[in-house]
Amino acid sequence: MCNGKTFYITTPIYYVNDIPHIGHAYTTIACDTISRYKRMKGYDVHFLTGTDEHGQKIQTSAEAKGKTPQELVDEIHQNFKHLWEVLNISNDDFIRTTEPRHIKVVQAMFKKLMDQGDIYKGTYTGYYCIPCETYVPESSMGENKTCPECGRPLTIMEEESYFFRASKYVPELIKFYEANLKAVMPRIRYNEIMSFLKGGVKDQSVSRTSIKWGIPVPGDEKHVIYVWFDALINYASAIGYLDDPENFNHWWPYVHHMVGKDIIRFHCVIWHLMLLALGLSLPVSVIAHGWWTRDGDKMSKSKGNVVDPFKVVSEYGLDPFRYFLLREVPFGNDGDFSELALIGRINSDLANDLGNLLNRTLQMIKNYRNGVVPECKDSSSELSTMAANILDRVDSFMNNFAFNEALKAVWEFISRANKFIDETMPWKLAKESDSSSQEKLNFVLLNLYEALRLSALLIAPVMPDTAKRIWSQLGLEGEPVKFLYDSFKWGEGTGKIINKAEILFSRIDIKEWQKSQEAKKMSEQELNSGSESEAKPVIEHEAEISIDDFKTVEMRVAKITKCEEIPRSKKLYKLEVDLGYETRTVCSGIKAFFTPEELEGRVIILVTNLKPVKLCGVESNGMILAASVKKDGVSEQLTLLEPADKNIPLGSRVS
Ligand code: ME8
Ligand code: MG
Repeated sequence: MCNGKTFYITTPIYYVNDIPHIGHAYTTIACDTISRYKRMKGYDVHFLTGTDEHGQKIQTSAEAKGKTPQELVDEIHQNFKHLWEVLNISNDDFIRTTEPRHIKVVQAMFKKLMDQGDIYKGTYTGYYCIPCETYVPESSMGENKTCPECGRPLTIMEEESYFFRASKYVPELIKFYEANLKAVMPRIRYNEIMSFLKGGVKDQSVSRTSIKWGIPVPGDEKHVIYVWFDALINYASAIGYLDDPENFNHWWPYVHHMVGKDIIRFHCVIWHLMLLALGLSLPVSVIAHGWWTRDGDKMSKSKGNVVDPFKVVSEYGLDPFRYFLLREVPFGNDGDFSELALIGRINSDLANDLGNLLNRTLQMIKNYRNGVVPECKDSSSELSTMAANILDRVDSFMNNFAFNEALKAVWEFISRANKFIDETMPWKLAKESDSSSQEKLNFVLLNLYEALRLSALLIAPVMPDTAKRIWSQLGLEGEPVKFLYDSFKWGEGTGKIINKAEILFSRIDIKEWQKSQEAKKMSEQELNSGSESEAKPVIEHEAEISIDDFKTVEMRVAKITKCEEIPRSKKLYKLEVDLGYETRTVCSGIKAFFTPEELEGRVIILVTNLKPVKLCGVESNGMILAASVKKDGVSEQLTLLEPADKNIPLGSRVS
C-alpha cells in the first residue's frame, strides 16, 4: 500500500468556544481535498482534525453559561463533528485535547523538556490579551496597549511561570529554513517567518497559575500548561507518540500542517523550536492560507455577518460551496465571500460548462448510438493530447496546494471539450449515412465520453459527490474517489452503457434570487417590528468597539439655562446649555415630552464633540443624552440622563 508514498495532513484544532464558520470550513475542506487527491495518487494518507478544549477562553465561556468547562466542551465539540459530516470530510481521526491519549503526551513532553533543562521556572510579567490567550510583546502592541489581533485592551499579568528555552534552538531553526524553502508556504509567509526568527525569539512562558482549566504541570499542580503548548502537541499525540512508536514513526516524517495565516508563528516558530528540543524531525511544510471576509468586511459575531456554512450548504448545495471556496481565490490570498459570486460560479462553471457537457454528450450517445459508447480505431485527438498532460499539470499545482490553479486547468479542459462539440458538429455527422461520417461520429462521441470520464476523476477530490453522480450517469461502476489516477487510459470507455442523463446543477436566476432576497429582508423586518402582542422586543446591537473607540466620544455635565421653540419645527427645541467653561446652543428633538419650564434648570449629560449641524436654520453644537422606548422608529417614552449628584461641577467629563 505504501509505495514510499506517505502523506500526513492536519488542520488546526479549533477552539470550541466559537461556532464553526466558513473560515473553519475552508481549512478543513482544503485538507479534505488534498487528502482525497493523494489517496487517488496512491498515497497512504492520514488526515487529522480536532478541537482545542483548554484555556482561559473556554473557562470564561463555561462560567458565563453556568456549566463546567468539561460539560461545555463535551457539548460544543459536537458542532464541529457535525459540520464535518455535513461537509463530507474524510478525516481519519478527530482529536480532542481533553482526551487522556493527548493529556499524557503533553505531560510526558513537558517533563522530558524539564528533565533536560529546556523548561525552567521563573517569573513572568507581561501584557496579556485574555480573549486571544496570548501575551503581547510591547513591540507589537496597538496604541494605548491594545491587542494587535483583536484591538481589545491588554491586562498586565505577573505570575510564577515555567519557561521553555526557545531561544537556544533559534540558530538551528534558521539553518533548517535556509535549507528548506518550501517548509513554509507560500513564499510571503516563509519570508515573514524568517525575518521574525532573525529578530530573535525570547524564552516562552509555558505555564499559568492564574487559570485552572488546563493540563497540570507534572509535579507542580498549581500550574497548568499554557494552552498553545498543549494544543500544538495534538499533531504528535494523535498518532501515538508515547504508546505506538511504530505508528508515530510511520506518519511523523511526512507531516504537513495547514493553517490560517493568523497562527503561523505558533506553527512555524514555537512548534518547530519545541520539536527541535524534543529531538523530533520538523514538518515537511506548513501551508498558510489567507483570510475570508464577508462582503468586504471582517467577519465577527457582533456584526452578525459571519457566514454560516450549514446555511450556505442547505441553500446552494455542498459541492458548489466546496468548489467555490477553492476556485474563487488563489490559496494563500485573502478572499471575500459573496453569494452573488457563488451564484456566478454555479451558473457559469458548474451548470453551463460542466453540466452542459455531460448533458449534451449523454443525449447524443443515447440518440445516435442507442446509449452504448462506440468503438473507434484511433481515438487520439486534441482532447486526448490535452488529457495526456493534464494529470501532470494538476499534480504540480496540487503539490503546491494551488487548488484554484488546478481547478482552472481542469476547466480549460472542460471548455476545450465543449468547443470540440461545436467544431465537430456531431448532429451534422449523424445525418450523413456514409461510413466515414459514421466513423467520425464514433470518434467524436468516444472522445467526449472520455473527456467526461477524466473530468469526473479530476473534480473528485473537490466535489466527491458530483463526481459520483457523473460516474453513475456515464454507466461506470465503483466510485471515482477509489480510482487511481495513474491507471487512467484514454479510450477504455468503449462498450459502456450509459444511464439516464440528469441535471447536475440548476441555474439560479439572478433576478428571481434578488427578488427573493428582498422578500426575505422584508419578512425579517416585519417579524422584528413585532406586531404580535406576545412578540419580544428586538434589541438591535451596534458593532463591538474598543475602549479607545468609546473614549473618542466626549460627554460632559451641563445645565439647561434656556429653552425656546423653533417656529418651523414640531419636534425641536432650541436650548442654551452651560458647561461651566462655556455656553452653547443645542437643538434637541424632545419637544413632544417636555414643556420649556420642565427643562430649564435641569442638569443633564451632553455629547460635546459632535460636528455642528444646522437644524431648521439653527446651528446645534452637541447632543443631550436620553433613554427612550421606540415603536416603529418613533419614541413613545423618553427620559433625560441626569447625574445623581446635582452638585457635580458643570463641565465634568463622563467616562
Ligand atoms: O487558533 N478565514 O483556533 P481557531 C480563513 N485553537 N480561515 C479562518 C477564518 C477566516 N476568517 N477564521 C478562522 C485556533 N479560520 C487554535 C489553533 S492549532 C494547534 C490551535 C481558520 O478556532 C484558520 O484555519 O481560532 C485559522 O487558522 C483557524 O480557523 C483558527 O481557528
Ligand atoms: Mg482564532
